[in-house]
Amino acid sequence: MSKNIIVSNRLPVQIVLENEKLAVFPSVGGLATGMKSVHADGDGIWIGWSGLEETQLTQKNKENVEKALLKEKCIPVPLTQDNIDDFYLGFSNKTLWPLFHYFTEYTSFENSQWLSYKEVNEKFAKVVLDNSEDGDTIWIHDYQLLLLPELVKEHRPNSKIGFFLHIPYPSFEIFRIFPWREQLLKGMLGADLIGFHTYDYERHFLSSVKRILRLEVNFNQIIYDDRVIKVDSFPMGIDYDKFYNASKLKNENTQAEKSDLQIRLEEHHKSASGTKLILSIDRLDYTKGIPNRIKAFEYFLNQYPEYKEKVRLIMLAVPSRSNVPQYKRLKRETDELVGRINGKFSTVNWTPIWYFYRSFPFENLIDLYTSSDVALITPLRDGMNLVAKEYVATRTNQDGVLILSEMAGASKEMNEAIIINPNNFEQFSNAIKQALEMSEEEQNSRMKILQKRLKRYNVEKWASEFMKSLSNTNKNQKTVQAT
Ligand code: ADP
Ligand code: G6P
Repeated sequence: MSKNIIVSNRLPVQIVLENEKLAVFPSVGGLATGMKSVHADGDGIWIGWSGLEETQLTQKNKENVEKALLKEKCIPVPLTQDNIDDFYLGFSNKTLWPLFHYFTEYTSFENSQWLSYKEVNEKFAKVVLDNSEDGDTIWIHDYQLLLLPELVKEHRPNSKIGFFLHIPYPSFEIFRIFPWREQLLKGMLGADLIGFHTYDYERHFLSSVKRILRLEVNFNQIIYDDRVIKVDSFPMGIDYDKFYNASKLKNENTQAEKSDLQIRLEEHHKSASGTKLILSIDRLDYTKGIPNRIKAFEYFLNQYPEYKEKVRLIMLAVPSRSNVPQYKRLKRETDELVGRINGKFSTVNWTPIWYFYRSFPFENLIDLYTSSDVALITPLRDGMNLVAKEYVATRTNQDGVLILSEMAGASKEMNEAIIINPNNFEQFSNAIKQALEMSEEEQNSRMKILQKRLKRYNVEKWASEFMKSLSNTNKNQKTVQAT
């Protein structure tokens, strides 16, 4: 019987080895948190990296890691320290990530890292081939594995291969800068269906295919080596019910059942009467516009001083890719900015920004989402942004306001949010004021529409639409012969 296989660089869980003890943690990031429920509901396997360095592991630890992962229906792809440096921190996160997010000044092109990228994609291909048969459905995810569809298709011509990009696909003028552009595009074209979050990303991809590979494109189909490849947009949803129900349960909790954080947040509301909470949650990534957001909040406090002591920004940043220099610099810059603004505005009773640099368990995320009057999601560039959707799903009383950057893919489906250009501080600051002053009726009417849409197009629907489309591809068409 054919099976479904998910492949991504990051597995839904990460393994940490401390003093010979294994601990399993959930991975952070939209791909892992979103796909997790799709994987949990199905009976397929997920192939990816455990987060560990392979040569650290004794034979016994290796077996234990494999066992722990098997429980989660996961199979590891072992990475060496060189792979982590050159493929993961290097090519994936110093070349592709900044380029695809329009941060060209951060993008470096190193041949040795490109070679490592190819080598690790081949490593993934080997694990996929060892764990699959021709005819299985293979769904490959994200920018770390752009060469993988072609490598797998070569040996699994009768498998349906899907590829989904979780980050933006940049315009042709940006993509053309990339030195190995033909190879990347050909790598992706090993898939039968290529999916993006938005129509704009799809359009940019088709334009690159036409202009760089000079292939025939008919509407959203590409003719390549006698194969027809379908390209489409599938905006990723969230596990709506999980967030909605968790929040509902919180609201019904008795005092004894409340988490410490929930109690703290409630005390805050009671003690500082009239003080409103604005929440932001991201991985600490330069694409998320964190320094920009802090500066815009300062601009707001200067422009509307009547809000001093009346509003607080709770900012969660989860550590990410901290060995990449730009992320280290961003950490320093964020620490300094928070310190400067808190130093400038704090009073005996009030600190304008509460900043947390760590991961939070699901429980606490729900506490924060449900306690915040406003969510401030203002990336400079973001493929989708699931945090915006999670906030909406937790607002069981249909109150709360979402301020969302137009640079996030999510803004295409969330028109009822206050949509801003995060580079325009005037607009940014006015949006905060508008959110804080919005009437309950207006909050409710915006929230209702947003919730209805997110509930209908949840992550399950997203995955099933992708799979349905994939199963309808390459009917009656020739495929590349296996070598
Ligand atoms: P990205 O994929 O770029 O990280 P998304 O907004 O799409 O951005 O997804 C982020 C995911 O990570 C969300 O599901 C969110 O709940 C989770 N997350 C973000 N910050 C934290 C945190 N501090 N603790 C735990 N989970 C977090
Ligand atoms: C984004 C990317 C994912 C990645 C995640 C976390 O969501 O699209 O592919 O897994 O960030 O980043 P990390 O580098 O820790 O895997």
